[in-house]
Amino acid sequence: MPFLEALAGKALSTPPIWLMRQAGRYLPEYREVRAKAGSFLDLCYSPELAAEVTLQPIRRFGFDAAIVFSDILVVPHALGQHVEFLEGEGPKLKPVASGKDLAKLSGKDASKRFDLVYEAIGRIVPELGGQTPLIGFCGAPWTVASYMVGGGGSPDQRAAKLLAYRDPATFKALLDLLVETSSDYLIGQIKAGVRALQIFDSWAGSLADDDFGAFSIEPTAEIVRRVKSACPGIPIIGFPRGSSASFERYAMETGVDALGCDTAAPLDAMAALQSRLPVQGNLDPLLLLAGGDAMDRRVKAILSRLSPKPFVFNLGHGILPETPIENVERLMRLVRAVD
Ligand code: CP3
Repeated sequence: MPFLEALAGKALSTPPIWLMRQAGRYLPEYREVRAKAGSFLDLCYSPELAAEVTLQPIRRFGFDAAIVFSDILVVPHALGQHVEFLEGEGPKLKPVASGKDLAKLSGKDASKRFDLVYEAIGRIVPELGGQTPLIGFCGAPWTVASYMVGGGGSPDQRAAKLLAYRDPATFKALLDLLVETSSDYLIGQIKAGVRALQIFDSWAGSLADDDFGAFSIEPTAEIVRRVKSACPGIPIIGFPRGSSASFERYAMETGVDALGCDTAAPLDAMAALQSRLPVQGNLDPLLLLAGGDAMDRRVKAILSRLSPKPFVFNLGHGILPETPIENVERLMRLVRAVD
């Protein structure tokens, strides 16, 4: 399987390709299932429907890997935090603003909710038929904590940073809880059948130096240690979005097997890393949306610079809902060199 070979450090003449958020609103068949499911969380916790939407982009485009349909915010939800996804507004959570709020997260229903994700994995794997590996995932503790403390997304992760600076003990306890829960969750996904993992640190780019070490690298490294000690061979991709200035440090200190690179990562920086580990990325989702010559040129630049060494083609961030399906088809032809 090309995706697993690339993660193991093999350079392939045609690189494997999958896209972050490849199951999503740009697909009419996703929108149909999504409407039937009710809420977004209902879809995540329906093994049958989650399996169906996971498989949709594989059937349509033949990507080299599938990714379990779920969300990084399933972890705080399973811990007992109130989480909802409001139409067109993104996620809203009841903020964890203090040690008292943190103590209320009992986690008593966590295994019940995670079991539904494992059940979805159990349905997906046989449908993929041994040709396409399934990726499991979680959010990195820093990124998940930023949503938990802020009550949603924010451009500067202000609430999480203020809690970390004013009440470091509570913030550390929150990161520790996320390390423990996320590690168990990833190990559960592997036991259910996933063949690789990705850890999404979407907000890593707002941290530098000591804070990057303490909030992004250390918790991620601990998850990697725990998962690898339970399941030694599993490849793990780290995606520290916005951190290209610290890629090498992140890769070396977390112990991830491959580095997911965001849209702003220079190809030279990615190519330099390839002597140490495989890289994945990093087409701008807006270029995929725009298509045309601009997309063609960039795809060719990425391929010629990165494909000679261990490489997985992906976007630099999730696919956008407005993306025309023809552009994804065109991308597949370019990467597979059939055009
Ligand atoms: O990649 C995949 O196809 C697997 C599924 C997946 C989803 N979310 C489904 C989803 C994955 C891997 C995620 C990760 C995720 N979720 C991240 C990390 C990656 C990133 O994008 O930075 C983050 C930060 C989240 C939190 C989240 N979930 C936000 C901010 C939103 C709202 C924004 C939006 O696009 O609507 C979501 C909702 C969400 N997660 C959707 C999907 C398909 C859209 C919801 C819908 O269908 O109504």
